[in-house]
Amino acid sequence: MKDKKVLVVGGGGRCHAIVDALLRSPQVAEVFCAPGNAGIGEVATNVPIKDTDVPALLAFAKERAVDLTVVGPEAALAAGIVDAFRAEELPIFGHTRAATQIESSKGFAKELMQKYGIPTAAYRTFTDFKAARAYVASRPFPAVLKYDGLAAGKGVVIAATMEEADAALREMLLDEKFGAGSVVIEDYLTGPEFSFMCFICGNQVVPMPLSQDHKRAFDGDRGPNTGGMGAYTGLPFITEEDEAFACREILCKAAAGMCSEGLPLSGVLYGGLMKTPQGIKVIEFNARFGDPETEVVLPLMESDIYAVFEAVAKGTGIPQISWKKCVTLGVVLASKGYPGGYAKGIEIQGTDTVEAKLFHMGTARREGKLLTAGGRVMMVVAEGATIAQAREKAYSELRKIRCENLFWRNDIAHCALNNE
Ligand code: AMP
Ligand code: GLY
Repeated sequence: MKDKKVLVVGGGGRCHAIVDALLRSPQVAEVFCAPGNAGIGEVATNVPIKDTDVPALLAFAKERAVDLTVVGPEAALAAGIVDAFRAEELPIFGHTRAATQIESSKGFAKELMQKYGIPTAAYRTFTDFKAARAYVASRPFPAVLKYDGLAAGKGVVIAATMEEADAALREMLLDEKFGAGSVVIEDYLTGPEFSFMCFICGNQVVPMPLSQDHKRAFDGDRGPNTGGMGAYTGLPFITEEDEAFACREILCKAAAGMCSEGLPLSGVLYGGLMKTPQGIKVIEFNARFGDPETEVVLPLMESDIYAVFEAVAKGTGIPQISWKKCVTLGVVLASKGYPGGYAKGIEIQGTDTVEAKLFHMGTARREGKLLTAGGRVMMVVAEGATIAQAREKAYSELRKIRCENLFWRNDIAHCALNNE
């Protein structure tokens, strides 16, 4: 019966894709999104509550008798939203604050991997500057230095020389630029990176299709790191054996390890993986859907996502999921200047003529006009029988969008196309 009310917490492109998937469910009658964005507001009800304002979200869920809450961003998980909802017996999809450490603490994640035999780069953790410096000097370069704690993706430095490593360690350990903390120093790995997300509930792991995002701002993987400029599914360089290995040796072992630690996972586990010459290894874990990966993965889901979210939230066993056989490719339209400073409030036209999925990331509507309101503004996602077809479609559709202040990468899926 189509009678369920769902609250989605968050407001970017990832949440738009979650809302879009929920609206395809035969059970879902109404979707609220806090705080949502202009695109989400066209298909669901935006609620003006910040995604980390746990008391206000809890009050809203009770007042509207919401059947299920789904959490998008990590900040809300780290703010303890799941713990607060569970304490009041409100069904919620996401991990507890303690389990979210698998993402928020690099040191915790590395220790878990070491203890349970999950393949990752060799590492050591330091709080003392001199000891850290001596360790770096004893290892080959480049050195990978990761500040342990939430540094909004800016806590990783790949140092090519001792001078660079020295400067980064000083900042992380002496200047306490990020706040008091420690540094994980690990070996530098090489190979293509990819994203492997799964639904997870205790020991049960149900994988999603693999995807790859594009972190650099400009074509040819050049320019500064961003939140992601595009993504696609159907990775030709990962074999079925690779996928089975990663599921068994990485995702399932992490699920079992977290159970043994008394911190069972219940939500999405995202493995940021690398196919190195020595096999597949973990670069990082995230405790949530990836962005922009979710925007290309969820459109492929044929099963009822509400049933999956509900089963994870209630611990009743995740049902089998079927996925479309085609592939998807998405291109992000970003404000010129991003990831540096950029203008906001520039009008966007032509979105109603786009014949592909259009997920809003940073948009606002004022006096009937659609305006840019963030660094990453929207993402056009197309399907195809092949990556080349999906790419052709995504780029021809995005050209229908008119806005003087947007730029995008022209080479999404370049590593796959040279392979296809
Ligand atoms: P992380 O925040 O841990 O995902 O690191 C950010 C990015 O730094 C990753 O997406 C990789 O491109 C790169 N990186 C992190 N760790 C390593 C490593 N051990 N070897 C090579 N590159 C790495
Ligand atoms: N696409 C990387 C992330 O979601 O962290």
